[in-house]
Amino acid sequence: MAEFEPKIVAFVCNWCSYAGADKAGGQKLAYAAQVKLVRVMCSGRVDPLFVMDAFRQGADGVMVLGCHPGDCHYRAGNKKAQQRFRILSRMLPQFGIESDRFRLDWVAAGEAERFQTIANEMTDRVRALGPLRIRGYVAKEVA
Ligand code: FES
Repeated sequence: MAEFEPKIVAFVCNWCSYAGADKAGGQKLAYAAQVKLVRVMCSGRVDPLFVMDAFRQGADGVMVLGCHPGDCHYRAGNKKAQQRFRILSRMLPQFGIESDRFRLDWVAAGEAERFQTIANEMTDRVRALGPLRIRGYVAKEVA
């Protein structure tokens, strides 16, 4: 039987984390192919409903990656993301979703290796948790 390969959705901010992921690709740094990027202008743009919708549509793990604290191009978007992350992480178990399936982190435009490390760590962490099964709920497939 094939090993479980988790589907990970990564919301990446346009200015830092997307550029870091792009650089990782440009440098041919291998990271899990099942990490799907969703480019947003800022980590502060990620509504908690986006995260829940990603889980609902079949993601086994969700990441929000933004600029390092103090580097947000919209000044405090990543601070807002951090506040939302704290609240959402506490709420997820109430929906039968382990909080380890959700991660917030920072990746600068030049940090290709950091992006690779985070993507692979998250994939390993979620692989160890197994497929997400939300009680009484059939998740849709993530494309
Ligand atoms: Fe990157 Fe706000 S612009 S976190």
